[in-house]
Amino acid sequence: MTPRPFAPTFEHHAPGRLGIGEARPRLSWRLADAAPDYRQQAAELRIAITSPDGTTATSVHRLDGEDQILVDWPARALRSREGVTAQVRVFDGVGWSPWSYPGSIEIGLLDASDWVASFVGPDEPASSDSAPPGRLRSEFELPSVPMRARLYVTAHGLAEVELNGSRVGDEELTPGWTSYRHRLRYATFDVTDLLQEGPNAIGVWLGDGWWRGRLGFRGGLTRVYGDHLAALVQLEVTTTENERIVVVSDDTWQAGAGPMLTSSLYDGEHFDARLHDSAWSRIRSRLDGWTTVAVRSNTATLVAPTGPPMRCVEELTPVTISDKGGGRWIVDFGQNHSGRIRITMPTTPGHEIRIRHAEVLQAGELCTEPLRSAEATDVLVTGETEGWWEPRFTIHGYRYVEISGWPGTLRPSHLVSRVIHTDLARRGWFHSSNALLEKLHENVVWSLRSNFVDIPTDCPQRDERLGWTGDLQVFAPSAAFLYDVTGMLSSWLQDLAAEQAELEWVPPYVPYISLEPFASLPRDPMAAWGDVAVLTPDVLHMATADLALLGRQVDSAVQWIKHVESAAGPTRICHDTEQFGDWLDPAAPPDNPFEATTDRYLVATAYFAHSAKRLAAIGELLGQAEIANRYERLADEVRDAYASTYVRPNGRLTSDSQTAYALTTVFDLWPDEESETAGTARLAELVRRSSGGIATGFVGTPLVCDALTLGGHLSEAYQLLEHTECPSWLYPVLMGATTIWERWDSLTPDGLVNTGQMTSFNHYALGAVSDWLHRVVAGIEPAAPGYRHIRFAPRPGGTLIEAGARHITPYGEASVDWKLEDDRLKVHVSVPVGASATVELPDSDPVEIRHGDHEFSTTIVTPARSPTASRTGR
Ligand code: BGC
Repeated sequence: MTPRPFAPTFEHHAPGRLGIGEARPRLSWRLADAAPDYRQQAAELRIAITSPDGTTATSVHRLDGEDQILVDWPARALRSREGVTAQVRVFDGVGWSPWSYPGSIEIGLLDASDWVASFVGPDEPASSDSAPPGRLRSEFELPSVPMRARLYVTAHGLAEVELNGSRVGDEELTPGWTSYRHRLRYATFDVTDLLQEGPNAIGVWLGDGWWRGRLGFRGGLTRVYGDHLAALVQLEVTTTENERIVVVSDDTWQAGAGPMLTSSLYDGEHFDARLHDSAWSRIRSRLDGWTTVAVRSNTATLVAPTGPPMRCVEELTPVTISDKGGGRWIVDFGQNHSGRIRITMPTTPGHEIRIRHAEVLQAGELCTEPLRSAEATDVLVTGETEGWWEPRFTIHGYRYVEISGWPGTLRPSHLVSRVIHTDLARRGWFHSSNALLEKLHENVVWSLRSNFVDIPTDCPQRDERLGWTGDLQVFAPSAAFLYDVTGMLSSWLQDLAAEQAELEWVPPYVPYISLEPFASLPRDPMAAWGDVAVLTPDVLHMATADLALLGRQVDSAVQWIKHVESAAGPTRICHDTEQFGDWLDPAAPPDNPFEATTDRYLVATAYFAHSAKRLAAIGELLGQAEIANRYERLADEVRDAYASTYVRPNGRLTSDSQTAYALTTVFDLWPDEESETAGTARLAELVRRSSGGIATGFVGTPLVCDALTLGGHLSEAYQLLEHTECPSWLYPVLMGATTIWERWDSLTPDGLVNTGQMTSFNHYALGAVSDWLHRVVAGIEPAAPGYRHIRFAPRPGGTLIEAGARHITPYGEASVDWKLEDDRLKVHVSVPVGASATVELPDSDPVEIRHGDHEFSTTIVTPARSPTASRTGR
């Protein structure tokens, strides 16, 4: 009998998620081990829909064929608040498997008319610059015990809710950062257990967050979205008597100041525990100092989450604590990360404990220059309350903290660091026999984690933390392998499309805020950054087979290319436009990262050709022939223009740089084979000449090893990869890095922090090489969307004697492990049920395989030009 399938999952949601926004969520299921000749021929879905009053209707739907990923919703459209379970069983032509266990999900509020609550907040004048964020509260009666209760909440600013003195849920920084002018996300919580028959109290902490807090560099902006904080709270209760009671935020609620004096994402939080009444969100007879709220209007569309929330996902304990004297301590958590400190509160009132954060130390003290103007300082004034204290509405990027004002001896048991980011599911792993490479890869994972904080940010520590489009564009292939990022990024891409439609421009960061200099510059299409509109949906589709995501983004992709096309004009060359170019090329002066070796217009034109080509492919996938044909033609024209402008007859490029050769090769822009051979040979020569020193910035870095591989210069690719002097990927590892640095030399070889403005120790862009580690070093990549067909093509080289990677594909886990024993290459691959694969080993003919475990062994000749290298990964 066919084994039982796993419980179905819905869209990109975690099992059991509440408050999703899809009325027709697509379903996916995985099949565990099955006989080698097993093939799903049909599936049956048993769908049970439960309305909030507890009545359930079940239906069974048969689907013929092999599909098991993001299958269209087979039942009737779901309505707000309905709970759904889905079970699947599969047919292999002979018999049916047992039914899977049920997968479940609950629908949120789908229609604007579902919302009866009002946005309410403290009634304060618009000009009050430093108004403390404040709190809200209300009381209500429940005639009987709740059977089911849901709390729907969002805010202008940030909100954390308490019911009868208990915190609701474990989500952080709710509602996250979307393009608030267009879309505002809400969260849904099951609060059944927090309510009681009779009187109940609800309280809401408010924080400035992205709504009103300081955002951006060069002083930045405050009150970007509004002057006033407000929360929208709707509590829907069904009692055991089946009575429906709705409690909403409205003009009867009250607002009051609290112990939180300031709260800023960049600067930290100031909390005076002496002002804290820990019973504030409980029922009480007397209320002092609470006043009537003001009702605020809202213009954004309220949307449900498509990805996971932010949470504390791990706690780090101190590795060392150094006594600096006078109640001052420096604590090393051993790992750069995003999060906050949780500290035990000394119970003697009136101590001012300051917690400062930094990524690095210099001469044993915190070095805060990389934070630029972000204060990253949390202040706790102690009161009489016992227990832990942790700031609520701030987040920092750090490895070290300085604690001052601590009474007595600071011990490891007094504090932990709470690692906070979007709670993404891990999907990919890599290993190799080179310990430095393993550390490099681990650093990539930590930089991803530190920067997937609701939106994909550039860095977690300084006065930016913006959704820089270029950083994500180059890193998306790595991210999509390492974590399940599709739900989170599909929200961000919708924001991108919304901003783009309004601005007629893909801004360099999303959500867009009008920071200088970008607010005053011409809205030129900025290559590699704006190309995210085409390339990231494409990458996500390849990883997950989510065609609907492509369909949703295709207009944004078309508009982007149209913009580039009109800026380039009939020459098809992107001259005279604002460009970042090969940002942070190591040869650029520290104070001018724009001054890269590679001609920025070459970069822009190469991207134009590549994105037009990928857009044509997207058109093809969506069955939109007009897009496919138009952009195929355009891509060819740009390619020709590129070749005649930048390629010299001998295969040299007008910019004789690693990045220029990398772009031309990986984006397939050489006019003929001879120039490609000569060009890639030149790239290999440049690498040898620099003894393996990398010379690329954000643009060339993700491509250079691929270009060398494609050109048959694998040993130079490994030379770059395993180089340890500055600049190289492994130099930071040897300098003690625990994350990927923004620049190759954030710490210079003399151990000093680079004085340039772009000196973060936690930017993922240069870690984009991990995509090459996965696809080429380990040798696993999708050869069909969603890994329905997998390509295993490990390319051993350098000092490695073994490597491997595994990835939880939509079908289940796929893995490759290889080992060199003298000249024998031994390879183990594993293919999940429902997928198939091609195994391409060096000097061997490709082999087609189906699901299951497979072993291969071949004699390896010294790496040579490989006709089988592929361009599919980019
Ligand atoms: C950010 C980047 C970004 C760049 C663009 C920087 O300040 O940190 O990573 O892509 O600006 O110019």
